[in-house]
Amino acid sequence: MQDVKLAIIGGSSLTSLEQLGQVESHTISTSYGKPSSDIQIGEFGGEPVAFLARHGSDYQTPPHLINYQANIAALKKMGVEKILAVNTVGGIHPSMPAGSIVIPDQLIDYTWGRASTYSDQGNVIFIEFEKPFDQTLRQHLQKAAQQLQLSPHNGAVYGCTQGPRLETAAEINRLERDGCDLVGMTAMPEAALARELGMAYASVCLVVNPAAGRSDRPICMSEVEKVASVGMLQVVQLLEAAVVSIAN
Ligand code: HPA
Repeated sequence: MQDVKLAIIGGSSLTSLEQLGQVESHTISTSYGKPSSDIQIGEFGGEPVAFLARHGSDYQTPPHLINYQANIAALKKMGVEKILAVNTVGGIHPSMPAGSIVIPDQLIDYTWGRASTYSDQGNVIFIEFEKPFDQTLRQHLQKAAQQLQLSPHNGAVYGCTQGPRLETAAEINRLERDGCDLVGMTAMPEAALARELGMAYASVCLVVNPAAGRSDRPICMSEVEKVASVGMLQVVQLLEAAVVSIAN
């Protein structure tokens, strides 16, 4: 297997990474089960990069049923040390309308019932999690964005809800009172599991809709898909420039 230290986890609007070109595909099993998809290794930004489709390569697994433990354990098993995660989100803060790219620096976990730790096999792991996203990776993402003249929001609070249903307007008001700027369904327990295994993890969020009650119209999936397909082109460019920055 090719030596690979950096992985990208793609979300609902990034189920494959065409830019990897000729790929090695690996079916990995872990003591936590199988990851959501085979892991592809190819070249991206001139560097070896692993790609994992968080929801499966056919987008078949909803956020609450993703085997986050197996996903992160599989990347660890391959030797990955750094993870750039892509998450689509709803925008709560008015400065983050649909189409915005955000590099969050904090999160609040509202999920429940997900297997959220490796601290379950006779060992107790207390991770430090004051800053849930790796600061160095965040700086690389920011630098890459500057090079591309993108102006992502640098720093935001990601509220992770259980899904797969979208939130009520009152739930979004509560998240806002809690300090959340964005709402998504997948950053947790992913970020915490990566930290438990000593892997650096940062997220690039693409805002694909105003959160519930933050627009005069209900959330419309066809509009979400349109925003996602345009925005993801920029996100992929940003990832590529970040990979180059991390390697140098
Ligand atoms: N809420 C939760 N998750 C999401 C949303 C949302 O509005 N949009 C994209 N992912």
